[in-house]
Amino acid sequence: MDKLIIEGGYPLKGEITISGAKNAALPILMASLMVEKGCTFFNVPQLRDIRTTLNLLEHLGCEVEKKEKSIRITPHALKPEAPYDLVRTMRASILCLGPLLAVLGEAKVALPGGCAIGARPVDLHLKGLEKMGASFTLDEGYILGRCKKLQGAHIYFDFPTVGGTENLLMAAVLAEGETILENAAREPEVVDLANFLIHCGADIKGHGTSIIKVRGVKKLKAKEYKIMSDRIEAGTYMVAAAITQGELILNQCPIHSLDAVMSKLTDMGVGFEILDQDKVKVKPFQEIKSVDVITAPYPGFPTDMQAQIMALMCLAQGAGTIKETIFENRFMHVLELVRLGADIRLSKDTAFIRGVKALKGAPVMASDLRASASLVLAGLAAKGKTEVRRVYHLDRGYENMEVKLNQVGAKIKRIKE
Ligand code: UD1
Repeated sequence: MDKLIIEGGYPLKGEITISGAKNAALPILMASLMVEKGCTFFNVPQLRDIRTTLNLLEHLGCEVEKKEKSIRITPHALKPEAPYDLVRTMRASILCLGPLLAVLGEAKVALPGGCAIGARPVDLHLKGLEKMGASFTLDEGYILGRCKKLQGAHIYFDFPTVGGTENLLMAAVLAEGETILENAAREPEVVDLANFLIHCGADIKGHGTSIIKVRGVKKLKAKEYKIMSDRIEAGTYMVAAAITQGELILNQCPIHSLDAVMSKLTDMGVGFEILDQDKVKVKPFQEIKSVDVITAPYPGFPTDMQAQIMALMCLAQGAGTIKETIFENRFMHVLELVRLGADIRLSKDTAFIRGVKALKGAPVMASDLRASASLVLAGLAAKGKTEVRRVYHLDRGYENMEVKLNQVGAKIKRIKE
């Protein structure tokens, strides 16, 4: 298991180019199961979760051709089974369920694993697909789904689930008749998936709002598509600039999907200069102050930025709180940040953070993807050496993080073990 050794205390300065969005690429790659003649994708990030998805697609019967700048996926003789070995490391594997049912009328998908940040059930995915005519049984850890032709339906989500909205959106595109998804997720990645499907000939309206209307079509046409940039990666590097009192220019930055993050960081004393529609300069313009943060579905403050903003609050002036409302167990970074000298108290879904003057390097353990990012950020600011173990979590979601950070002045070494 690789680890990162970070020598903290160097202000970052320079430019970072943001990669393609993992959370948009995953559903879009899965949607290619539904495009008979295949699709070519650009801006697909090179990440462990993407490799897992491509392995899964190959296993399901797709031909995957990787070129330097693109990936082509062509479904051939599709098989309905997504085995446990591929699914266990990545919850997003469940996103093949909708496409497989739409194309084959059957699916056998192992119950997903992924980050250990809560129960993360898939009941809303199944309930929605049942309304469209699918039936499910659970057998030895596998979800077995069957249907005749999926039928359009009116589906109300009890919670605006991102993956649930994506699965149902994909299923609805090839279903018979109209599907209405109510209380749907409005995340930019859902919008990117809808845009890709529309590009292939799907009839979708209302994506980006909480009511999405889909009229089923017979077929999707082969196309090329460029995946959107990663707003969470961009937000993470905004914090990296702030926490090191540095100055970074972010290229290919999806500025318009970062309102909640940039507004909180502005309240904390971080300055932004918009240089172009996807280029922003980030620089703290005064001492960083504490704030109160509540995570919420988009357009609220993203849970995927909660751990990173906490790292910044550890060094802010005064005290602040972070309330986590999306996942019930997403504070595993807290104890590790405390090992670096942070002053954090936890009570149920809320963390109380009092800023300290300095953090001090120590060995810490990454427990999930965004938790790992927060430890790297804290390590960049801490005095001395921070050793972040189990960085395979980080590799699931950040493309070349230490390479990108070293190019702007960080001192990070990867030790392969
Ligand atoms: C996606 C993102 C993840 C992000 C999360 C919330 C991907 C690959 N992952 O995850 O990075 O943190 O959105 O923005 O895009 N829930 C249920 N039943 C369901 C589905 C969800 O109870 O059937 C609950 C979950 O346990 C969780 C909450 O709803 O508490 C949010 O989950 P969801 O929006 O579905 O997140 P994911 O799609 O798994």
